[in-house]
Amino acid sequence: MIKVTYVAHDGTETVIEAEEGTSVMQAAVSNDVEGIVGECGGSMMCATCHCYVDEAWEARTGQRSDDEDEMLEGAASEVTERSRLSCQIKLDPSLDGLVVHLPEEQL
Ligand code: FES
Repeated sequence: MIKVTYVAHDGTETVIEAEEGTSVMQAAVSNDVEGIVGECGGSMMCATCHCYVDEAWEARTGQRSDDEDEMLEGAASEVTERSRLSCQIKLDPSLDGLVVHLPEEQL
């Protein structure tokens, strides 16, 4: 199992454990983590799974793709260089302990 910490906009942390191969979005939705909606189910057709990868983890999650970039243009909250669509980050053992921050709003 892979541990992921979601830090809400107000600083509240939720720690969950998910199976390898699950996306950061799926892991949040199936554990009722508030702040990730995942409206399109992970097909990169919305931006309601927007998250900010913690600085310490940026190198391991990699850069967002051009398609993610395009979809993030419709995000409800500010997009920064650490913004990602959490449905596009798949959990593998190298991401055990991952920390992501959640935007103020998704819709
Ligand atoms: S869940 Fe819709 S783009 Fe990620």
